[in-house]
Amino acid sequence: MTTALDELAARLPSLRLLREPGDLEHYGRDWTRRWTPAPLAIALPANAAEVQGIVRWANDHRVALVPSGGRTGLSGGAVAAHGELVVSLSRMNHVVGFDAADRTLTVEPGMPLEAVHAAAREHGLIYPVDFASRGSCSIGGNIATNAGGIRVIRYGTTREWIAGLKVVAGNGELLELNRSLVKNSSGYDFRQLVVGSEGTLGIVVEATLKLAEPPPPAQTMLLALPSMDAVLVVFRLFRARLALQAFEFFTDIALRHVLAHGAQRAIDGEFPYYVVTEYDAPDAATQEAALTVFGEALEAGSVVDGVIAQSSAQAAALWRLREGITESLAPHKPYKNDVSVRIGAVPAFLHEMQALLAREYPHIEVVWFGHIGDGNLHINVLKPDDLSDDAFIAQCEHVTKLLAGVLKTHGGSISAEHGIGLVKRPYLDSTRSAAEIALMRGVRKVFDPNGILNPGKLFEA
Ligand code: MLT
Ligand code: ZN
Repeated sequence: MTTALDELAARLPSLRLLREPGDLEHYGRDWTRRWTPAPLAIALPANAAEVQGIVRWANDHRVALVPSGGRTGLSGGAVAAHGELVVSLSRMNHVVGFDAADRTLTVEPGMPLEAVHAAAREHGLIYPVDFASRGSCSIGGNIATNAGGIRVIRYGTTREWIAGLKVVAGNGELLELNRSLVKNSSGYDFRQLVVGSEGTLGIVVEATLKLAEPPPPAQTMLLALPSMDAVLVVFRLFRARLALQAFEFFTDIALRHVLAHGAQRAIDGEFPYYVVTEYDAPDAATQEAALTVFGEALEAGSVVDGVIAQSSAQAAALWRLREGITESLAPHKPYKNDVSVRIGAVPAFLHEMQALLAREYPHIEVVWFGHIGDGNLHINVLKPDDLSDDAFIAQCEHVTKLLAGVLKTHGGSISAEHGIGLVKRPYLDSTRSAAEIALMRGVRKVFDPNGILNPGKLFEA
């Protein structure tokens, strides 16, 4: 009997297809590790024409497709657990071109973020979006989730850096969106619709990225703080007086995990909160200004200790305290909340949320860290050894429902930067109105009339 997959192989004879159990497992999951991978097979297209062939075949046979990048996602957006064909863009990982006049870099979607950084640097420029999974995540996945990270406070999210996209829509059409124009006032901006759509509208086959001038030389500072309120006070002070590139916080519990995972202690003593901040410090005057601000915070009691990196190796060691958190928590099967509110709403939201979490998780370890300067908090709940996976997730989902209610009253979002995927799907309506969700579904229907692209992600199929 000829299967649909045989027919795909016959239509696209040079398409690489994987069907071994090990491959199905490897490509069928992301970093959530909650769902059992069960894809039909893995397709590794080499170019846009093959992607288009796959999408047309999927429409003919009504086979669901899961677009796949580095699978470092934390919301289940790239999970294939129901016989889908995974479309891994990992072979489409080349630089297509650099345009000096436009200051753009055109790349294929499977390029790791770190390789994009290196390619930009070759031209004396930077691609400024950055985060800890840079070595394994792909630019296509970054676009699918509108990834943020550690430099949003200076540069914004992925969305700001997309000049143009080539996309194979769910109906099989190849779309060239915005054609890298700086000014384009000719109707709907589908490029921005695709950014953050989690593979539900189309598959990105080429991205033209805006590049920026490298920032001035920076200094990295680690601060120890006595309270969450102090973190916010110091943020306001530092933002007013220094040109911040990053302002990230974490708690003592996060520090304990990251130190146990091999990072080096940088400040002696035990303090409840820490901040890693980076700011422009190109000359003696700006470095002096940073010391003055630090001294003022120390005198006011909002900072209790601090250290300024004296070398790039020391700066990297300070950053490891923040960037190593995700990896150090992974063995504890964390349930991850990734929430945001307006920066101005952070203090009121934090107080309500702290009370909620203390009440609902009395005997469970909760780790806080994140991009406090963007109003984005990561709340990681660690699974106790004596609780089953199912009971743990059920409890976390109950609390997330309550958290979603608090977020709604503060006008926040249930996903700041990880995406909705499968994990946050039940809570989408805390962030988006019924009218908005109806429009989102309508848009999806136009791009993907047969619902073959990443069904079940973002909202139920
Ligand atoms: C981070 O900020 O480190 C990432 O969003 C990853 C995470 O939340 O675990
Ligand atoms: Zn983050």
